[in-house]
Amino acid sequence: MSSPENLQDAYGPGNILFRVLEPMGWGDLLNLGYYTPPTLPALPAGLASFQRRLVARSTALLRLTARDRVLDAACGRGYSSHLMGRRGCRVTGVDLLDAHVEEAVRRFGGRPRVRYLAGDLTALRRPPADGGPRPFPDGSLTKVHCLEAAFHLGPDGRRAFLEDVFRLLAPGGRLVLVDFVWRTGDPAGIAAADPGRLVRDTWRFEEFEPLSGYHRHALDIGYRIRLTQDWTRPVTGRFLRLAQLCAGLSAGRAGRRLLCRRWPALSALTARDWLRFAAVVHAHTAVRHASGYAALVLDRPAR
Ligand SMILES: C[S@@+](CC[C@H](N)C(=O)[O-])C[C@H]1O[C@@H](n2cnc3c(N)ncnc32)[C@H](O)[C@@H]1O
Repeated sequence: MSSPENLQDAYGPGNILFRVLEPMGWGDLLNLGYYTPPTLPALPAGLASFQRRLVARSTALLRLTARDRVLDAACGRGYSSHLMGRRGCRVTGVDLLDAHVEEAVRRFGGRPRVRYLAGDLTALRRPPADGGPRPFPDGSLTKVHCLEAAFHLGPDGRRAFLEDVFRLLAPGGRLVLVDFVWRTGDPAGIAAADPGRLVRDTWRFEEFEPLSGYHRHALDIGYRIRLTQDWTRPVTGRFLRLAQLCAGLSAGRAGRRLLCRRWPALSALTARDWLRFAAVVHAHTAVRHASGYAALVLDRPAR
């Protein structure tokens, strides 16, 4: 499982990907985004609209109603919880990083029906250290949304998360889990594709789950698998193409000037930073064949 220190490095200014993506519009969300050809003309306006599109797609799978009590598991900076709250549901956004929870409260706090809490997805049923009541009693939730976060949990953590959510959901409740999945199950191949550990050290790539692993755990626990969709092409596939385009442009002065003219905050990056960015994009491209991106809808049977 990713430790808080590991997460701070992955989502902080020490990660060159973030130093490029934040000026390009990452703000309310931390996911890769959902890209379809008709929407690509919106790219010069930045990446935020694509990230919101991914949230729109994942939350649509929940089939929310105003009566729902929702856990937004790993809510990041809070946008998805806020969106679900606007639809009339009661939503709790939980994230392991205090910095993300504080950011969520700063951006979206104080709105009706939505609260943000620090918490660990791998220990959702653990009693609080102060001896108070658990924030989520068993059977108290009707929907759980987990967008692009379960890959952080490691195999044991993912299993604990799926088991806990099953108990927290009322009968008939639904979990929507959207995540990176492992295609090859071949650690040696991934090690060869990422010799500098530029991907593995940031994202704990060796701990990704094959889709079959998710399915097996879910069925063992008692979920009904309602839907599995492959979103590799519109999410990781096109995101990486864009990152490659950006890395290609950044290799020359004219391209860097173009990027900085469109997103002035990129001017803070040095030539060395851009070289590092290109190396990281190259490493992500090399491991691309090993990973996919999937949406899963798991229901707790009504009886
Ligand atoms: C790629 S971000 C996605 C955030 C959000 N769902 C979004 O779409 O913007 C992954 C998030 O998972 C959170 N996270 C990682 N491990 C966690 C854990 N064990 N418990 C709770 N949150 C965790 C990170 O802090 C981060 O905010």
